[in-house]
Amino acid sequence: MEPIIELKNVTKKFGGITALDNASLHVDKGEVVGLIGDNGAGKSTLIKTLVGVHKPDNGDIIIKGQKVNNWNTKKAREAKIETVFQDRALTPQQSIVWNIFMGKELRHPFGFIKVKEQIDEANKIIREIGFTSKLIDANSPVGNLSGGERQGVAIARAIYNDADLIVLDEPTTALSLIETQKVFDFVNNVKAKGRSVLFIGHNIFHVFDISDRFIILDRGHVVHKLDKNDVKTPEELIKVMKDTVTGGKS
Ligand SMILES: Nc1ncnc2c1ncn2[C@@H]1O[C@H](COP(=O)(O)OP(=O)(O)OP(=O)(O)O)[C@@H](O)[C@H]1O
Ligand SMILES: [Mg+2]
Repeated sequence: MEPIIELKNVTKKFGGITALDNASLHVDKGEVVGLIGDNGAGKSTLIKTLVGVHKPDNGDIIIKGQKVNNWNTKKAREAKIETVFQDRALTPQQSIVWNIFMGKELRHPFGFIKVKEQIDEANKIIREIGFTSKLIDANSPVGNLSGGERQGVAIARAIYNDADLIVLDEPTTALSLIETQKVFDFVNNVKAKGRSVLFIGHNIFHVFDISDRFIILDRGHVVHKLDKNDVKTPEELIKVMKDTVTGGKS
């Protein structure tokens, strides 16, 4: 199977700092990949390069088998790659439907917004990703939602944009256990529809539960690519990380 996105030997420097050093990875269709590593390992730099915020100094970005040139955020969105950043992207005073369609409204030929169509579509998407509460529908203000549900709205927007790959940057960092579980349910539903997720997290237990595969970054290097079968528990994954960083001398 052809990966939906691939980075090959990507290097990114900031002045004297090499944030990414010859990093290679891929994401296949319908898989959840967990990206982990210590503070400063290069996780954010990697995803920002992948979604076109940073221009790599070296290396290739390959989309569905085609090497791309002058990669940028616009091209990334056209390639159906969407990034969900923690909270920032939503307007809490507005409804779910408003937040999903923001800037990309469905309009009649004379410019009026297709209000009913948008509400129907928003309701369809939020049910699809797993909103089950009868108290929540497209017209609910985002400000009334819990943290996990807000992540769900951000994911719903990515789905409205028909994302093949959704990049989640630390989606559970500020959340309680129950809210984290909600985000996991959303991610699992997204995956069940054949979409892919790149999940960045600090909490190994969170990343472990949700991911099919792990990529470990250490000081700009991709040091490990592991299947969940290779590391059967989060503790084992933590051990692999520790052994890598300390050279096995811990
Ligand atoms: N815009 C920038 N300008 C200069 N240096 C940067 C910039 N962005 C990142 N760096 C440096 O690159 C290295 C990797 O940073 P990055 O933010 O990618 O790490 P991270 O794995 O996301 O860390 P964290 O877990 O703390 O978010 C760090 O040494 C950081 O200081
Ligand atoms: Mg970061």
